[in-house]
Parts: sequence; structure tokens; C-alpha cells
Amino acid sequence: MTGGGDAPGLNGIIESASRVLLNNGVEVVGILDGFEGVFQERTKTITMDAIIGIHSEAGTFLGTSNKSKILGRADEFQKCFAHLNLDGLIAAGGDGTFKGLLELAPKLKIIGVPKTIDNDLQGTEITFGYDTACTVVADAVDALRATANAHHRVMVVETMGRSAGWIALGGGLASSADAILIPERPFSREKFATYLTKAHESKKPGMVIVVSEAAMAEGEDAVFSENLKSSTGIRFGGIGERVSRWIEENTPWEARHVVLGHLQRAHQPTTTDRFLTAGMGAKAAELVLTQNWNRAVVYRDGKILDAPLSDIQGPPRKVPPSHRWVKLCESLGIFI
Ligand code: F6P
Repeated sequence: MTGGGDAPGLNGIIESASRVLLNNGVEVVGILDGFEGVFQERTKTITMDAIIGIHSEAGTFLGTSNKSKILGRADEFQKCFAHLNLDGLIAAGGDGTFKGLLELAPKLKIIGVPKTIDNDLQGTEITFGYDTACTVVADAVDALRATANAHHRVMVVETMGRSAGWIALGGGLASSADAILIPERPFSREKFATYLTKAHESKKPGMVIVVSEAAMAEGEDAVFSENLKSSTGIRFGGIGERVSRWIEENTPWEARHVVLGHLQRAHQPTTTDRFLTAGMGAKAAELVLTQNWNRAVVYRDGKILDAPLSDIQGPPRKVPPSHRWVKLCESLGIFI
């Protein structure tokens, strides 16, 4: 089952876990559209032919949903799951998915595979999809340099990441963006204006800056495009345009903005994410074959390991303000 927002690499998890299980004579059933597939008992039998090669595609072969939750529907979920007559569940999901499943863990046999492009899950050093999202950001920054330099403008690139700045930090650093604004380090408007103005005075041809969707100035709130009442909570968005307008009003630069949005989830998985998902899916299958349930597949110290399912649940894992990548930005002269 794949739950929550999609992430490049989900199909790698499906393919590698299914191949190992099918090769060991285990019947594999795909649950469609996340939790909805359990509540509505919508599934499809997984055959080797159906899944071979899907690892290179973004999206999820099974569909997903980040609207429905289990919270408050645990008994109903358990009954519906029992009707599927399955031995156990491999779930690739984020904090929302595991918040619900953890309630059921003692009664259900679950293997959790942490998933999000945001890279903000507890208990694992990296989540699959993150490298691919950073690649989209880095490619965008590289591409926008041409028009920024042609027009002597600042191009502002707004990234995803929810309340954590990992995507902006990773993608911005990989492309040597001129500035990286992340929620964990509210920026000083005065210092930022001085930095940009000095660059203009030094005849810099153009600038490209990366702004995480929940970034904010010191003493201010993040910008929400709309405050949804649905289970998906608040929807960030709009900071890129605000910063672009502010730059034009407070520095000598012209500025424009680009919102990368779901392009960060639509790109084919990178080689890094393919290695990660091939190994993590196989590890999930190994845990099933050894009946080692209620475990999570995690990445720690350069290895794919298993840990208690509860390890990957909890508040978002934020960028520590003095993280080594932040220090690297400072030593490179990138405003952060
Ligand atoms: O959690 C992954 C993510 O892409 C966030 O970075 C982003 O804020 C959110 O999902 C967007 O959710 P949706 O696809 O429901 O708009």
C-alpha cells in the first residue's frame, strides 16, 4: 500500500518488495489508493510482468490518497483489512500514514517504509524521493541563471518541503544558489536587502535564490495560499511571489518568481533514489519472509536497517540551524 503524497521511488519500493516476495513463492496483493483501498476493499493481484520496470517511473502503480485518515476509524479499518484475508501489510507512507497505522500496530502485522520528498521524517537519515526533488530544484536553478543574467534580474525559486527546509537547502546547495531561505532560519529583511544590494553594486549579472514554501522573515509567519480545513491541514504557497515583489521594492534589482510545485514529485527517480528503493523494498520483503513485523525500514550510517515502527513517527525532522550544510553555505558565501 502507498499512502500520503506521492514521491519518486514509490514504484521502486513496489517493484523490489514484490520481486523478492514473488521469487519466494509469496502471493502479493496491491492495495489501491492508500487507506481508501482498504476501506473500499479495492485491490489488485501483483504479477511479476505487471511490476517489472516500474522502478524508473514517478508516481505510484497502486495510486495513493492523502485525504483519508484512519484516526477514529481504526475498528472499521481493521475489519475491512481482515476481509482482504492478508497476512500482513507493507505500507510506504509519511507521518500521516504511520500516525494511523501505529494505533493498529499491535493487532496488525505491518512493515513501514518511510516516504516523503520532504526528508523530514524521524528515525531515518534520508527518505527516498528527496534526492529526486533536490535534482528538480538544482536543474531549475541552473536553467534560470540564463534568464537572470540576460535581464540582470533576481529569479526566485519557490520549493516544496512543508515546514522543513531540506529540499531548498539540498537543491540550492547543489546548484550554488545565491541565497537559500528556509523555515528553520527566519531571515533578516535588512541583512537580506543589504546582501542583494551589494551584489547589484558589484555588477553581478543576475541572481537565482531558492525559497522554501514555509520560509518566513524574522518575527513573521509563513505564507499560506489557503488555510484548508481538510485533513491535509494548511497549504503553504505564495512566499516566492512575496519575496520577488519585496526585492523589487527594497533593492535595485528587478525580480521574478517560479513555483516548482509538483514538478518536484513528478521527475523520474534519480539513480540514488533507485538504489535506495531497490534496497529498502528488498529489506521490507526480508522482514516479511522472516515474520519480523511491526518494523520500519530505515537508512542510518550509510546502511539500510530495520527499526521499531514507532521510530519513524513523530514531529517533522527539521534542519538544525547549525547543520553542516548550513555552515557549508556560509563558507561558500551563499546567503542563508
Ligand atoms: O509532503 C510532500 C509535499 O509535496 C509537501 O512538500 C507539500 O507541501 C505537500 O506535499 C503538497 O501536498 P498536496 O500534493 O496535497 O498539495
